[in-house]
Amino acid sequence: MLISGGQVQQAIQRVAQRVNADCRGGKFQRPVALITLNGALVFGGELFRQLEGDWEVGFVKVSSYAADMQSTGDVQVDVPPTVDVAGRDVIVVEDVVDSGKTVKSLLTLLDKVGARSVRIATLLFKPGAYKAGIPIDYVGLPICDEFVVGYGLDYDQAGRNLSAIYVLDE
Ligand code: IMP
Ligand code: MG
Repeated sequence: MLISGGQVQQAIQRVAQRVNADCRGGKFQRPVALITLNGALVFGGELFRQLEGDWEVGFVKVSSYAADMQSTGDVQVDVPPTVDVAGRDVIVVEDVVDSGKTVKSLLTLLDKVGARSVRIATLLFKPGAYKAGIPIDYVGLPICDEFVVGYGLDYDQAGRNLSAIYVLDE
């Protein structure tokens, strides 16, 4: 086990506290928590439950193109944002930020549809693999550059329901 269920819960609490602190004082009107499917479903649900104030939840699903197209930084939009985010303040909720390609493309997408502001919250962050250069606003736990499963993260769609996080055993 890399991260116990208890440690995951503590990390989510810390992220929620920081988001709540940043959103106090009426700065944001009905912000949107935009949960990326499928991986951030578990983290996003728990985080959302701990947010204070008038939040709306939405979902988006993107997937990477084949490896030979990686240099374009493009991802395919499988499910466009389920909430109209034009003029809204958005927090993108990710399970893990690895190279940063996904996050970068989500920022481009949300900019295109006219989001007023976009912040990023991720449960896990791999600083050693990150190449996007965009600061990540809320990081639950930094991890080393290993493939992990559990708490929403999968290997070939398996392992998402585990309550702790494990390094994939090869
Ligand atoms: P990025 O675009 O390289 O930052 O990758 C982000 C996406 O790749 C995540 O949303 C995950 O779907 C997937 N991913 C990256 N690292 C892992 C991992 O360790 N376990 C499971 N999925 C991962
Ligand atoms: Mg994912």
